Amino acid sequence: MSNDPLKLTGNGLEVDLPVMEGSVGPKVIDIRKLYAQTDMFTFDPGFTSTASCESKITYIDGEKGELQYRGYPIEQLANQSDFMEVCYLLLFGELPTKAEKDKFVWDITHHTMLHEQLHRFFSGFRRDAHPMAIMVGVVGALAAFYHDSTDINDPHQRMVASYRMIAKIPTIAAMAYKYSVGQPFVYPQNDLSYAGNFLNMMFSVPAEDYKVNPVLEKAMDLIFILHADHEQNASTSTVRLAGSSGANPFACIAAGIACLWGPAHGGANEACLNMLAEIGTVDRIPEFVARAKDKNDPFRLMGFGHRVYKNFDPRATVMRDTAHNVLKELGVDDPLFDVAMELEKIALEDPYFIEKKLYPNVDFYSGIILKAMGFPTEMFTVLFALARTSGWIAQWNEMIEDPTQKIGRPRQLFTGTPKRDFIDLADR
Ligand code: SDX
Repeated sequence: MSNDPLKLTGNGLEVDLPVMEGSVGPKVIDIRKLYAQTDMFTFDPGFTSTASCESKITYIDGEKGELQYRGYPIEQLANQSDFMEVCYLLLFGELPTKAEKDKFVWDITHHTMLHEQLHRFFSGFRRDAHPMAIMVGVVGALAAFYHDSTDINDPHQRMVASYRMIAKIPTIAAMAYKYSVGQPFVYPQNDLSYAGNFLNMMFSVPAEDYKVNPVLEKAMDLIFILHADHEQNASTSTVRLAGSSGANPFACIAAGIACLWGPAHGGANEACLNMLAEIGTVDRIPEFVARAKDKNDPFRLMGFGHRVYKNFDPRATVMRDTAHNVLKELGVDDPLFDVAMELEKIALEDPYFIEKKLYPNVDFYSGIILKAMGFPTEMFTVLFALARTSGWIAQWNEMIEDPTQKIGRPRQLFTGTPKRDFIDLADR
């Protein structure tokens, strides 16, 4: 197919729209001049047919079930890389050399501590506050502490803020958990890996030694890799839109965390485990599958379906294998895992799910693993936000460095009341 312009005719108009082609994936119709040429907007609520930007970071093929970070398939990164290397890859575009990786890991490791005054920030929350509410608050408040990395026009400050975000998000996440259970905050340990340090900050207590389980450390690192980035999903688009106004990086990441919290997005892992617990036993699955298919019932199978993947979510496949390994390592026989496996089997054979191309997504198995690792359900989305911070930061930097970047400002189809004159109270 050539890249001849697309001719748009009708409504007394004839417009040639340029067609742009990327390195892979669908071509795009460049409509940037459409309003000027036609006095009309396009209409695409939910942006199902809209490319919001040009990006070089993550590529998804929904039909083939493919996900690549900077061209590397997620399966290869999951099996051969580690999260620090993936953070470097997302941020800089290439896998690091040994020297580059060692320096990056050293730099991140030495930014993991939080300003001591921020520790008091947590005490303003109720102990039973949802940790995602704490994450939004504390991450947004970083702008009140790190004034030396909020000037988005200074490349050095942008990089300092990026390193600080990636480095401190596990510390903040673990502190949100410790605060909720009334245990003392645990400081980062620089001799531990990124994932091991997080597990230590989460589960160690001053009263006894804590040894990071290497199997759980590897599973945690893998879960971070799988959640790191995912093209222009809702929360990443939120970070880009916030960043397009020139907002500081901490405010942009806080906005992304807020968006991710929703059960249709990152909140699905928490909602999925709650759903599996509500189903409880395999024999109750048909009742819930029927509800998911009932148009009059708002219930949806959490962890199923995806805006882009219409075949399978490659992350779910890796996640399912990891679930097996972690449960086996921990000797956990979780009936919810049996329910999940049977639910997946039943749903994938059901015409409704086949016709609507609904498959397990990244959130379907993650909750099983996280529960087995000892994380409370309300921490699941926090872990998603922790991992996705690396993707958000990479996307934010790419947006800021894009010379064509401008403030995001969609228009609308107005169907409200046309102009009318005010009516005095006495006349109403
Ligand atoms: C994430 O975008 C990303 O990349 C997100 C993410 C990332 O890494 O950033 O991958 C992470 O958010 C994964 C998705 C997690 N959410 C869930 O698991 C919640 C349950 N899933 C649904 O809410 C839904 O599938 C969405 C929101 C994920 C996708 O919805 P779409 O693409 O907007 O599709 P839709 O809502 O228009 O549904 C299409 C049809 C509808 O039926 P009809 O109106 O055509 O008759 O499929 C049905 C829906 O009712 N449907 C479901 C369903 N999901 C869609 N029916 C039952 N159960 C479901 N889970």
